[in-house]
Amino acid sequence: MKPLFGIIVFIIIGILTATVLGFGIPSSPPKVYDADQAGLDDRIVIKFSHVVAENTPKGLAAQMFADRVEEKSNGQIQVEVFPNGILYTDGVEIEALQRGDVQIIAPASSKISNMFPAWNLLDLPYAFPNHAAIQEAFEGKIGKQLFKKLEARNIKGLAFWINGFKQVTSNERPLIVPEDFRGQRFRIMPSEVLESQFTKMGVTTEIMSFNEVYRGLETGYLDGQENTISNIYSKRFYTVQKYMTLSNHGIIGYTVLMNGDFWNSLSDEHQDIITEAMNETTRWLSDNAIKMNQAQLERIKKESPIQIHVQTPEERNLWRKTLRSVYAEYESVIGKNLVEELRKIQNKYEEPF
Ligand code: LMR
Repeated sequence: MKPLFGIIVFIIIGILTATVLGFGIPSSPPKVYDADQAGLDDRIVIKFSHVVAENTPKGLAAQMFADRVEEKSNGQIQVEVFPNGILYTDGVEIEALQRGDVQIIAPASSKISNMFPAWNLLDLPYAFPNHAAIQEAFEGKIGKQLFKKLEARNIKGLAFWINGFKQVTSNERPLIVPEDFRGQRFRIMPSEVLESQFTKMGVTTEIMSFNEVYRGLETGYLDGQENTISNIYSKRFYTVQKYMTLSNHGIIGYTVLMNGDFWNSLSDEHQDIITEAMNETTRWLSDNAIKMNQAQLERIKKESPIQIHVQTPEERNLWRKTLRSVYAEYESVIGKNLVEELRKIQNKYEEPF
């Protein structure tokens, strides 16, 4: 019995000593120093949330930006893209960005116009006669002034991305002259200027999140809506609408926004990588967004019986006249000098109205 008792005491003392001093196992796993693992702790993950499909101008641009950043940083910065509002829908994404739950969002400019009233500028009816005018506004004084407004809320504006011109669709009747809109219910994005635009056409407006529009149209709760061809195509709005007018009466442009604290936490080198990748993506998008919208218009024509009307110059003038007073109504909200800058660009490309 004695040797056995000795062994047991030995084991117990051993266990107690090991418990006090430790088993020689470090509290966290040892670092493995091989090439693949180096820098793992320093890896930066950026969550990029947006609400449209992957096969849209914004969806493709978001993925291209993610790929470029990963390449340029040798995998040190990873951008995870969440499309279709799977992470945050458009009603809540701006708060998520401010909380830091997501690092990048790219809402349509209309969706930040309540928070930053100057941004209503981009929703003014017939604000931009063509793509060159949009480009000039985004890259010039207008773009700079609009970005400056974001700083007050600790948001860093990374880029303006273009989708394209908005068109109108309806289930009620063809939309040829302003009177055709009377008595219909249209979905709008949350923007006072858009509300005023449709009110002047005799439309009842309904603010609705992008992801709910299809159902609103399908059930007949909504009569119509306005959007770009790529959104009308990718969300299949054209399958639940009878009429579409190619009116080019407004634009959908995106503002790519980063949480300000997150931006400031990045090293100069990482900020440069993000800026470079963003500039390349923005250039690619402005070269390709029009083509994508055109190609998808052709598909809509092939795939559905929707009746498409191309607005004539006379109809355009009629709509512009009906909507002209929105400018005076919102000049003080937006800021006189911004509206004047826009007027300069408009007058360069189109007769004033
Ligand atoms: C919409 O809500 O209609 C658009 O802003 C969606 C988008 O992001 O293009």
